[in-house]
Amino acid sequence: MSLTDAVIDLLSTTLAQADFFPRLSQQRRVYEAVRSGILLQQLNSGTKLPSSRALATGLGVARNTVIAAFEQLMAEGYVTTSIGSGTYVAPSLPHSIDLKQGKPVSSEQRGSFSGNRISSLADESDSASTQINHLSQRGQQLTQFAAGSRFEIQPFAPGDPDFSHFPFKLWQRLQNKVWREAHPDLLDYGSAGGFLPLRSAIVDYLRISRSVKVSIDQVVITSGTHQSLDLCAQLLADVGDLAWVEDPCYWAARRVFESCDLNLHPIAVDAEGIAPTASDLLTQPKLIYVTPSHQYPTGVVMSLARRRMLLDLALQKNAWILEDDYDSEFRYSGRPLASLQGLDTHGRVVYMGTFSKTLFPGIKVGYLVVPPRLTDAFKTGLYDLQRPGQMTVQAALADFINLGHFATHIRKLRQAYGAKRELLVKTLSSHLGGKVTISGEESGLHLLVEFKNDVDDVSLARLAAESGLEVRALSDYYLSSPVRRGLLIGYAYVSPEKIAYYGRQLAQVIRAGTHA
Ligand SMILES: Cc1ncc(COP(=O)(O)O)c(C=O)c1O
Repeated sequence: MSLTDAVIDLLSTTLAQADFFPRLSQQRRVYEAVRSGILLQQLNSGTKLPSSRALATGLGVARNTVIAAFEQLMAEGYVTTSIGSGTYVAPSLPHSIDLKQGKPVSSEQRGSFSGNRISSLADESDSASTQINHLSQRGQQLTQFAAGSRFEIQPFAPGDPDFSHFPFKLWQRLQNKVWREAHPDLLDYGSAGGFLPLRSAIVDYLRISRSVKVSIDQVVITSGTHQSLDLCAQLLADVGDLAWVEDPCYWAARRVFESCDLNLHPIAVDAEGIAPTASDLLTQPKLIYVTPSHQYPTGVVMSLARRRMLLDLALQKNAWILEDDYDSEFRYSGRPLASLQGLDTHGRVVYMGTFSKTLFPGIKVGYLVVPPRLTDAFKTGLYDLQRPGQMTVQAALADFINLGHFATHIRKLRQAYGAKRELLVKTLSSHLGGKVTISGEESGLHLLVEFKNDVDDVSLARLAAESGLEVRALSDYYLSSPVRRGLLIGYAYVSPEKIAYYGRQLAQVIRAGTHA
C-alpha cells in the first residue's frame, strides 16, 4: 500500500466512525480527521499528505472541501506547504501532547505514519467515543455538545470583525510605552476590578454612548463575555436554579449556564424581543439573560414596553437580568439605542460589554457593570475564581480609549461595515429576489436570511461550508423546536472587494439548496 493510500485509508476510517463529529460540515470533519491523526501521532512530523485532488477522490468529497480544510490546518500550524512540493505535517506542532494523558506520546505507542513508514492504525482506545468515557458526566455533556466553531475566520462567519482596520502600529506604540514604564503592579495578578484608568475610560464611554448609569466602583474588567457570564452564574445562582434564556439564544450563554448546572428555561422571541407567555410567568427564574440591543441571533431590538415589563418582572421575582450588549456600537441608521440598564431604578440589571467586536476577539477583554450592592462580591469572586491578569493589555487599552483612538476606530468600522452590509443585501436581493427575507441588518455584524418555503437550514449551512462559506443555521440556536429557519450571515470580516463575489456564491448555494 502506498503512503498516499495508507493516509487516505486512515482518514476514511476516522470519518466513517458514526460518532466522529456527525453534526459538522464535511470540511470540518476532514479538518478534524487530519488534526486528530496528527495529535494522535498517526501522522508524524514530515509526513507528506496526499494531494487535495487525491484526498478528495479517496474520501468522496469535493476538492474545495479538502483545500479549505488544509488551509485551516495551515493557518493553525498543523501542516506546512510549499508550492509544487505538497503539504506536509509541520515539524513542530501547536499541540504535541496527548490530550488524554497530558504527556507526550511516542510513535510506538500509537500506530503511526512517519515519512514512508506505515505501522498499524490506532487501537480502539483512541477513538473519540472512548476518550469521552474518561470524562465526568458534566465533561461528557460539555464536550459532546460543543457549539463553538474552530473555523471562525471564514467568509460570512457571524461575529468576526474586520481585522484589517485595526491600527496595529499605534497599538504597538501604546504597548511599547506600557512596557517601557512597566510598573511591578502591571505584572502582578489584576487588582480588584481591573486597571483603574481603564475602568474610568469605560465609565465615560458607557455614560455617553450607552446611557448606562455607572460609577467606577461598579465596573469589573473580565476576560470577555464568557467569563462575565460564568461569574454571574457562579455568584448569583445556585445549582438547579432556573435561568430564562431567549429562544433562539447565544450558544455560549447556554453552554456557560449548563456548565454551572443551571436549568435553562427557553422563552420565545417575537418582534419586540423576549416574550414570556402566561405559563412562563408561573416559573421562578434566578437569572434572565437577554440581548436587548440586537437579539442574538435574530437581530430584533427589544421594545421599550418589553424592557419595562422585564424590569418589573425581575423586581417581582427577585431575579437578575443579565444584559449582553455585545455589538451595540454598530448601528447603521437612527440614533444609538440606550441600554436596558439605564432604565433600571432598582439595581436588578448586570450589564456586560466586550472589546471582542470593536477591537479583536483575541484581546479577551470585557467588562461588567454590576449594581452597587454587588461590587465587592464580584471583585472578590473574580479574584478568587479567575485570578485576573493582562494588566499591560488593560493599560494600553486605557490609553487607546483616553487618547480618542477607540472612538475613531469605531467610527471607521461603522462606515466600513455599513458599506459591506449594503453591498451584501444588494447582492443577495438581486440574486434571490422575493424568495428570501432579510432582517437584523440595521445593526451588528451579521444579518439573517429567511426563506419563504420550508427549508432545512442546517443542511443548507453545511452545503455553504463546503464552498468555504461559514454561515450558521438559525435553527441550531433554538433550545425548543425551531419556529423560524434561516441563515446567519456575517459581513464584517469579508473584504469589500470580495463581498459581492462571495455573496453571489452564497446565493447560488441557497438557490441550489432551496430549489429556488
Ligand atoms: C451574543 C454575544 N455576546 C457576546 C459575545 C462576545 O463574547 P466574548 O466577549 O467572550 O468574546 C459574542 C460573540 O460572538 C456574542 O455573539
